Amino acid sequence: MRHTVVVLGAAIAALLMPATDGHQLAPAITSTTVELPSGDALFPGGANADAINNNCLACHSADMVLNQPALSRSAWDAEVHKMIKAYKAPIDESDVSAIVDYLASTKGTN
Ligand code: HEC
Repeated sequence: MRHTVVVLGAAIAALLMPATDGHQLAPAITSTTVELPSGDALFPGGANADAINNNCLACHSADMVLNQPALSRSAWDAEVHKMIKAYKAPIDESDVSAIVDYLASTKGTN
């Protein structure tokens, strides 16, 4: 009984399908606009945050860094070098001190 219903259903579906004559119309491709939430995308602090904003947002968010525990200046220095060595962050050595300054004053222990 169930088998008959399935076969009948398939036959009706086949009848209802629009006839294709060998070629199908390509779907129209249209542009659309997406509003992304703005969020706290950047490290706050204006010009003092330029170096860290320019170097530290390619792989993770500012929040991810700012939510870490406060560290000493030397620990932040080691952290920045870990990003460069372990994770191959393309950070210019001349930007490192400005980044460490920012981290030590924003999330520092001393
Ligand atoms: C090339 C990609 C990349 C860049 C650029 C980068 N990081 Fe990271 N960072 C990572 C990865 C990968 C992790 C570890 C995995 C994770 O937690 O997402 C990480 C983790 C961290 C952590 C968490 C603690 C830890 O050691 O895991 C801190 C803090 C951090 N990064 C700070 C920075 C700062 C500051 C900069 C800029 C100097 C920076 N990152 C730039 C890839 C990067």
